[in-house]
Amino acid sequence: MKLEDAIKTRKTFAIISHPDAGKTTLTEKLLLFGGAIQVAGAVKSNKIKKTATSDFMEIEKQRGISVATSVMSFPYRDKTINILDTPGHKDFAEDTYRTLTAVDSVILVIDCVKGVEEQTERLMEVCRMRDTPVIVFINKMDRPGRDPFDLLDELEEKLDIRVRPLSWPINYGPDFKGVYKLYDQSLNIFDASKTTVAENIIETKGLEDSRIDEVLGKKDANELRENVELIDGVYDAFDNKEYLAGKLAPVFFGSALNNFGIKEMLDTFCEIAPQPQGRTTNTRPVKPEEKKFSGFVFKIHANIDPNHRDRIAFVRIVSGEFKRNTFYYHVRLGKNVKFANPATFLASSKSLVEEAYPGDVVGLYDTGNFKIGDTLTEGEEMLYQGIPSFSPELFREVVNKDPMKTKQLQKGLQQLTEEGVAQLFTRQPGNINIVGTVGNLQFEVIQYRLLNEYGAVVEFKPLGYHMACWMTSDKPEKMEHFIRVKSSEVALDKDGNYVFLAPSAWMLDRARESYPDIQFHKTSEFKTLA
Ligand code: G4P
Repeated sequence: MKLEDAIKTRKTFAIISHPDAGKTTLTEKLLLFGGAIQVAGAVKSNKIKKTATSDFMEIEKQRGISVATSVMSFPYRDKTINILDTPGHKDFAEDTYRTLTAVDSVILVIDCVKGVEEQTERLMEVCRMRDTPVIVFINKMDRPGRDPFDLLDELEEKLDIRVRPLSWPINYGPDFKGVYKLYDQSLNIFDASKTTVAENIIETKGLEDSRIDEVLGKKDANELRENVELIDGVYDAFDNKEYLAGKLAPVFFGSALNNFGIKEMLDTFCEIAPQPQGRTTNTRPVKPEEKKFSGFVFKIHANIDPNHRDRIAFVRIVSGEFKRNTFYYHVRLGKNVKFANPATFLASSKSLVEEAYPGDVVGLYDTGNFKIGDTLTEGEEMLYQGIPSFSPELFREVVNKDPMKTKQLQKGLQQLTEEGVAQLFTRQPGNINIVGTVGNLQFEVIQYRLLNEYGAVVEFKPLGYHMACWMTSDKPEKMEHFIRVKSSEVALDKDGNYVFLAPSAWMLDRARESYPDIQFHKTSEFKTLA
């Protein structure tokens, strides 16, 4: 395939949502549409259910499933669609943030009963950092939810993005009759008993068409007319440029469980979603059309079998064509590496890749060469940017319970944090290891894996830090002063950057006031703290 053709036909995106809004159901229905699976139920949720927090076998099983569903590709119309899966569990949010660096757009699923939830807000914050284009799917319209206008207001308010409905629901809950497609003036009629992907579409000649009254009844038809008038009055017309700039989100309504409203969203997605985009490196921006291959590692997954400590590194291809059994340059290590068995994954099967193109993700078997953020090129010395670490929310000191296994512990901690399971900070003096996570579950995973894969026994001692802030300053003496005075609250991150472990929001504010020459950043890539 020619590189330009491959780029034009690819769409790489992620579905994001607060747990339970319907991400797994929607993913599965998209795969059904694409013919990638034949029956519902083939995609397992990668959610780690709450009850499983102490069931480590379950965690291991889930990890296996999430490898299998890490990337799902399917053809649809003339496009190749790559869906990058994101973990459903909140405790693995950091994994999701990193996956978002490897996509070109997202579909955000909202539960119409619950509206914007905590995790929705955080994920959208990450999308906004990169101006990722967003399509919103308001799900579960078959349930008695909230007024659609209220939901749209809430989206705009809480997610700080303008919205534009492209379909409009006719009632909701038990009275849900379907949606009116605003862009082609047709009705899509809802039938809860339907089990196939077939749709019941009624073309109309516009809102005044009497067919609408025949199909919906006078009352609902008139209400629809009033609502559409209101929509046209309140919301600007859909502007593709604004969408691509991440400023405006088109909104669709439907029910993933009932296979309803998905096709119109998928069709629109194919038309408007961006093709694979370039990325920036420390030396220059890279365009997908460039002939030479380059890409970056955004996710590392440990193999499930503890006897084989090999891992799978997921590489997003940014430019050129990737070929199997070809030497590529590992920039950080300064050495050439080649891959005999690069893989793609779909549902539970994986297959060998001979070649792959910008927007594609390949899984590379790795015996410890890769870290998250690593760059592969055809020889050029450049490093992809934009895979920041975010501040963890929970911090604990690692207490070594078996001094004979200190070496193994250090190795285990290093490897697990390279995989991105958690962040490791080292506090001087005393060389104290501090692990930071976004949820409790990771501590259990780390403790279990350190014991099972490295033979190290640890306990964790809770530390009362509020957040980690990366520090920079062009006045070294001020920085040195701060580090000396606050030695119990300063640590080094994995790359040797100084981090302030602020005990509280108040203390962080005080530090910023007292040390105006030091900048405190929310992420490791030094975006200033909002
Ligand atoms: P997630 O991946 O975002 O966490 O959500 P998931 O798809 O697992 O969906 C969460 C629950 O919501 C599931 O029910 C699912 O069946 C239901 N659901 C998804 N879409 C719709 C919809 O359009 N309408 C209705 N009424 N329900 C929907 P569950 O009981 O938690 O799981 P399950 O036993 O059905 O799998």
